[in-house]
Amino acid sequence: MDSLLIKGGSKLEGEVSVAGAKNACLPIFAATLLTDQKCVLKNVPDLSDVRFMAEIVAAMGAEVSNPSKGVWEIEAKKISHIAPYELVRKMRASICLLGPLTARLRKAEVSLPGGCVIGARPVDLHIKGLRALGCKVEIERGFICVDARKMRGSQVYLGGRFGSTVTGTANIVMAAVLAPGTTVIENAACEPEVADMCKMLSGMGAIIEGAGSPTVTITGVPKLGGTEHTVLPDRIEAGTWIAMAAAAKGKVLIKGALKKHLGSFLDILERAECPFEIKSPTSIYVDASNIKLKPVECTTLPYPGFPTDLQAQLGALMTQADGISVITERIYPERYMYVPELCRMGANIVREGPSAIISGKSKLSGAPVMASDLRASAALIIAALAAKGDTLVSRIYHLDRGYDSIDKKLAALGAKVERIKNAD
Ligand code: EPU
Repeated sequence: MDSLLIKGGSKLEGEVSVAGAKNACLPIFAATLLTDQKCVLKNVPDLSDVRFMAEIVAAMGAEVSNPSKGVWEIEAKKISHIAPYELVRKMRASICLLGPLTARLRKAEVSLPGGCVIGARPVDLHIKGLRALGCKVEIERGFICVDARKMRGSQVYLGGRFGSTVTGTANIVMAAVLAPGTTVIENAACEPEVADMCKMLSGMGAIIEGAGSPTVTITGVPKLGGTEHTVLPDRIEAGTWIAMAAAAKGKVLIKGALKKHLGSFLDILERAECPFEIKSPTSIYVDASNIKLKPVECTTLPYPGFPTDLQAQLGALMTQADGISVITERIYPERYMYVPELCRMGANIVREGPSAIISGKSKLSGAPVMASDLRASAALIIAALAAKGDTLVSRIYHLDRGYDSIDKKLAALGAKVERIKNAD
């Protein structure tokens, strides 16, 4: 497994471009199975999760090619209705096959994904949504088995204990676009990635109103066609670069940072007195040469609230704020695997239920640390940039799942970073 060796203390300077959004691509790749015609996807990030999703749709029967950087072509003339455990267990997002298979074939068998390091990740809302559309759904042999012969549009409420569900909303929208009648999804996930998938579906001929809002109305059509779609920039990557620039006292222009998708994150940064400037609707400049961070209180919530996918990065940055910050995780209350690793670097963080209490400012010092998941890996890099000395982040395959060329981008900004192949 590869590791990343980072020498702390070098200032980041220059420009960095944000890649396409991973969490839009994954349902979008699944959505190509809704038609037998060709779909062309552009601005697709080069990530192991995306390559894996491409393998999954190919294994389902689609012809998949990657003719040039960032461009994928998918033509699913004939597909299977069974997504086996061997495919699904490697990536939870393959649950996004459920909607398209149900819609196109009127039957689906999708293996239930296994456990996840960031906490329990149930799929009860996906199942509830399909049942509301008139599908028969049973759990058998570890599979979600759907009989959708009687599927029709309906009223679907998708809220759960922790709010709505991102991939659950994607699945129910994808099922409803080919269901006769009108479907109204209430408490739909408002995340821009779901709205981007809806935009792609509209390009395929789907009739969708209210995408990106809590009420989405879908009028079923008999058939969808091919389309060309450009994936929106990744707001989580953008937020991660802002945190990295701030931690490294850098001067960085982040291109592809959409202000309209980063509202809650920028609000917290303003409260932390992190110096940033909106240069355009799609770019943000951070000049952190004289940064003096203030502590913040922050709670993760579904969009447009503060994203759980930036919680670890904020936690790492707040080790550099002068005072006590409190971060509360309302989506995945156990998503704190990065905390003990940061403490090994000298951070002062205690857990109190779903909250992390961070006392700063800590003098971080480089140490060997282990990445446990994608966003935890990003948090460790943020800490490594702020630390004195060398940090060796192991198991960075997590990072390669969701950040396109992060080591190359860091090096181009002046960070002292080296990928060590097969370090353990
Ligand atoms: N939930 C339920 N029942 C369900 C589904 C979800 O109770 O049937 C709960 C979850 O346990 C969680 C909350 O609802 O507490 C939200 O989960 P959601 O279903 O929205 O998560 P997801 O769709 O599985 C996506 C992203 C995650 C991101 C979450 C929350 C993709 C492929 N993944 O997951 O991204 O953290 O939404 O915003 O879109 C990441 O990129 O690092 C990542 C983990």
